[in-house]
Amino acid sequence: MSDDLAVDADIRVAETLPARAFVEPAFLERELATIFTHAWQLLPERGDDPRPLDEQVAARGARVPVSLLGRPLFVQRGWDDDTLRAFPNTCTHAWHPLVLGASRGPTLVCPQHGRRFDCTGRFVSQPSFGKDMPNFPRECDHLASLPIAAWRRMLFASFDSRAPGLGTVFGDIDASLAKLPPPLERAKSEVREVAGNWKQHAWNYLDHFHIGHVHRAPHGLADAIDLGSYTTELGEHAVLQWVYAARPADGFLPEQLPERFADPKGRRVFALWWFVFPNLALSFYPWGLSVNVYQPIAGRPDATRFIWEHWIADRSLYAERDQRWLDGQVDAEDVDTLAQVSRGLRSGFAPRGRFAPTEEQAAHWFHRKVALGVTAPP
Ligand code: FES
Ligand SMILES: [Fe+2]
Repeated sequence: MSDDLAVDADIRVAETLPARAFVEPAFLERELATIFTHAWQLLPERGDDPRPLDEQVAARGARVPVSLLGRPLFVQRGWDDDTLRAFPNTCTHAWHPLVLGASRGPTLVCPQHGRRFDCTGRFVSQPSFGKDMPNFPRECDHLASLPIAAWRRMLFASFDSRAPGLGTVFGDIDASLAKLPPPLERAKSEVREVAGNWKQHAWNYLDHFHIGHVHRAPHGLADAIDLGSYTTELGEHAVLQWVYAARPADGFLPEQLPERFADPKGRRVFALWWFVFPNLALSFYPWGLSVNVYQPIAGRPDATRFIWEHWIADRSLYAERDQRWLDGQVDAEDVDTLAQVSRGLRSGFAPRGRFAPTEEQAAHWFHRKVALGVTAPP
């Protein structure tokens, strides 16, 4: 499958990923087994508890079940230490789920045949499994802990014990936010299913080329920003896009951002749009932070689970986000565009595309990282 995927490092000759990469179930399976196995992923919230996940597991010994990319995990706060851990929510005896709902205590007991584990995932005991049993417990009778880490108030996990530290992945982002006070509270958290492959959504976020078309006047995003100042900065793990606001009142105060964003003409930065490969968008505005995750759904390449959170930094600005930062409008326009593109992808008439060298560096970066990610040796 690797042969015809390559995305050239030279944007002037590079071709996009082929259309089949957006529609074939086999390609999605491969992405899940490669890119999404190695990446850090935001742990989704649980529908039955409105509190942010970190609050749900704040207490000693607290645990909650979560599902990450369709695979069952649970998050566990230590009993003897304060450490947060993530484990597969699958019993090592005969594979029954271990944690069916939020609970708390020094040990947990599997509902099916009573196997007991402590908060560090170690097997403790099980009826009829005596001390005289040969070769027991084996290492695999304990629960394998998965990497888990917090960034601000958000919890991330990975299926790959060799995942680079979260600090490495977020290093450039943290540097850009050094002078911004962290958002105060979470205002919204919603998960919905939207049309289109997860890569279409990520690509769209990284594509400022369409702003002057899809989000044009009257009263579009194109009016609210100084499009000519649009800047894209490519990193190893993340991309930053930023632009000056058309009206200074809509921008960050100069003292809220590092010196490098200062403008001799007095313009102010409208937003910092950070994208962390493969599927996390962090949009920082003067009102706070909008988080989007474009989560693939196993077996369904043409749909995406769209996680959308708001974290408020300034309540009064937040109330004006739709008028001044066009939060809802841009989202609706993008959803509509992507539905149209989905039809094109499936038309049987879609050749590999090309990139506008001065406008589509971030899109090129993304396509190339996907191509390299799915063809990399395990
Ligand atoms: S499946 Fe858990 S104790 Fe048997
Ligand atoms: Fe858009």
